[in-house]
Amino acid sequence: MIKASAYTFKILRYDAQDPESTPRFASYRINVIPGLTVLAVLNRIRDEIDGTLAFRSSCRSAVCGSCAMVINGKLDLACRTQVSAFNTDTIILEPLPNFEVIRDLVVDMTPFWRMYDKIQPYLIRHSPVPEKEILQSEAERLRIDQYVNCILCACCYGACPVLAREPDYIGPAAAAKLERFVLDSRDERPAGALEILNDEKGVWACDTLFRCIDACPKEVRPTDAIVGLRKAIVKNRFQKMLGKAKDEA
Ligand code: FES
Repeated sequence: MIKASAYTFKILRYDAQDPESTPRFASYRINVIPGLTVLAVLNRIRDEIDGTLAFRSSCRSAVCGSCAMVINGKLDLACRTQVSAFNTDTIILEPLPNFEVIRDLVVDMTPFWRMYDKIQPYLIRHSPVPEKEILQSEAERLRIDQYVNCILCACCYGACPVLAREPDYIGPAAAAKLERFVLDSRDERPAGALEILNDEKGVWACDTLFRCIDACPKEVRPTDAIVGLRKAIVKNRFQKMLGKAKDEA
């Protein structure tokens, strides 16, 4: 028979709609069997104990990115974090940092999506549309491999020390997504498209502390993308000076 262990879940609760509300930890004592995830426990608390608890989830398979939060001080996905992985019987859950809290563990993702939208996160082509799909070699696909794995959970955004002091910074996720398209053999965006990140709120703002890499649950390395974009911007500048720059939009 599988033996359950008792855990205390302390969840930071707050309702931005309620003028009386102040952030406070609410405690729930739950028996958990090995293998149960933090998300499964949150569903139990909401379904069986307190229907007012707010959190996001969808796929329950570490694919949609909606259940990102701070779990015992670490940014991670609730659906892939097993409760028994911790050497403590107290699990503390908090909303993602660097965002406004809407309610409990639900944050307002608007600034994150604004930055994502800014970098034009899709293939840009000027050549005529081919009759067949554009094939990539294995090597070409490998170049973008890690960036394709990004699920836009915003763990990197929550971990970023620059965003804590500069909310208009483009952020690691948007930079990684831009690099994904810059490196894509099928993308034809002009060199000038990188200029959108060529300022003190773009790639030059990064402190290169690698917190985004530590926080990513999908092993994406946004700092590598930022360094890659910096190099590309400098290279484009030199090519422009030498009159060799690619056409600008
Ligand atoms: S519910 Fe989709 S990533 Fe966790």
